[in-house]
Amino acid sequence: MSAEHLGTEGQGVATGLTGRSSELDLIRAVIDDTARLGGSLTLFGDPGVGKSALLDAAADLAGARGMRTLRAAGAQFEANIAFAGLNQLLVPLVPLFAELGPDHESALRVALGFGEGATPSRILISTAALSLLLLAAEEQPLVAIIDDAQWLDDASADVLSFVARRVAGTRVRVLSTVRTTGEPLRARGDVNSLTMRSLDDAESEALLLARYPDLAEHVRRRIVSEAQGNPLALVELPATLASDRYPTADMLPAVLPLTERLTRIFTARIAALAPETRDLLLLLALDGSGQALSAESVVGPDAADHFDIAERERIIVVDSRHSIVFRHPLVRSAVVELARPEQRRKAHRALAGCRRADPGRRAWHLADASFGPDEEVATLLQNEAIQALKR
Ligand SMILES: Nc1ncnc2c1ncn2[C@@H]1O[C@H](COP(=O)(O)OP(=O)(O)OP(=O)(O)O)[C@@H](O)[C@H]1O
Ligand SMILES: [Mg+2]
Repeated sequence: MSAEHLGTEGQGVATGLTGRSSELDLIRAVIDDTARLGGSLTLFGDPGVGKSALLDAAADLAGARGMRTLRAAGAQFEANIAFAGLNQLLVPLVPLFAELGPDHESALRVALGFGEGATPSRILISTAALSLLLLAAEEQPLVAIIDDAQWLDDASADVLSFVARRVAGTRVRVLSTVRTTGEPLRARGDVNSLTMRSLDDAESEALLLARYPDLAEHVRRRIVSEAQGNPLALVELPATLASDRYPTADMLPAVLPLTERLTRIFTARIAALAPETRDLLLLLALDGSGQALSAESVVGPDAADHFDIAERERIIVVDSRHSIVFRHPLVRSAVVELARPEQRRKAHRALAGCRRADPGRRAWHLADASFGPDEEVATLLQNEAIQALKR
C-alpha cells in the first residue's frame, strides 16, 4: 500500500500516511464543505494512533487550498492557566482586534492577557472569539487546528467548542484532536467526530516496508505483532531492534525494549498504580507462560483485588482461554521497563519458586534473578540444554 494523497486532481498533497484514505476523505469533505458537515471535526484516538499526523496532513491540504492556518495545542502544564490555549490560537490575529466592536475587543484583550480588568463573561469571550475568526476569514478562509484538546484549560475548551458549533456555512473550519486512553468516548453529538482505528496487519507491514525497507522479515513480523496497529509503535520499535543483533526470530528479546517516547506513553497509566498492583503486573509480564499463576503465594492474599484494579484500568484482560494477558503487548514491556533491577530480580526469584514443575522455565528465572555465575543455575541450565537436545 502506498502513502496516501490528499486533495483533488491537480492539487494533490502527499501525506506519507499509510492506511488513512477514508480519514483523509472526511477531512477533505469538512474543509471543502462538500457534505455540509458543519465545518468542524474532532479526531479521537489512543496515544500514537496518528492524530497529530492527520492534523499535519489537514494543514497541508488547507495550505494547498490557499487557506490560512491557526494552530494551538493543549499542554498538561498549561491546563490550569485560563485561556492559555485560546491565547496560542488567536495571538496571530491581534492586529485585527481593533476592527472588532469595543466590547469584543476589550473582552479578548483581558481574556488573552493583553489588558487589565475584570474577567469578562464566558459568553462574551466566546462571541468575541467567533467574531474575530469570521473577520479574519473575510480576508482569507481559515482553519483553526487544535491538537491535544484533552489538555486545554477549561476556559479555552469551552470557548473553542462554542466556536466549533457555529462555523457551519462560514469560511472558518475547526479541526481538533483528543487523546483517549481506552475509556469510552465523550460524545458531543453536535460536532462531527471520528475515533481513529488501529492499522490492520497489512497496513502495518506496508508502513514498515515504506519506512524501514531494510528490516529483516522476522523483525518486521515481530514488530507488527507487538505494535497491534499503533503507528507510533511501528515507527519507533525498529530503532531498538537492529536486525544484525538479532539474526533469528528466537533471538529477539521476550519483552521488547521501548524507546523513550514509547516508554512515556505506555508507562503513564502504570506509574499511577499502587506498588502492590505494579508488583503483580511485573510477575505477569516476566512470567509469560500463559499458565495460571498462583499470585497469592507471591504477593499475598490481596492478589485478586490487584488483578481487579488492573482489569478495571484496562491494563489486563482475561482472554477466551481464561488466561490473563496484557491488553497491549507494549504495556507489558512498559511494566518491565518501569521496574528497578532489584524489583525484576525479586520477581524472577518469586517466579522460579512458582515454576518448580517446569525446570527449564525455573532455570531461566533463576538466571535472571542472580547477579553473576551461580552453581545451581548453571546445573539447571545445563540439564535444560540436554533435555532440549533430546527433544
Ligand atoms: N498512517 C500513518 N502512516 C505512517 N506514519 C504514521 C501514520 N500515523 C502516524 N504515523 C507516525 O506515527 C507517529 C505517531 O503519530 P502521531 O504523533 O500523529 O500520534 P498521536 O495520535 O498524535 O499521538 P499522541 O496521542 O501521543 O499525540 C508519528 O511519527 C507519525 O508520523
Ligand atoms: Mg499527537
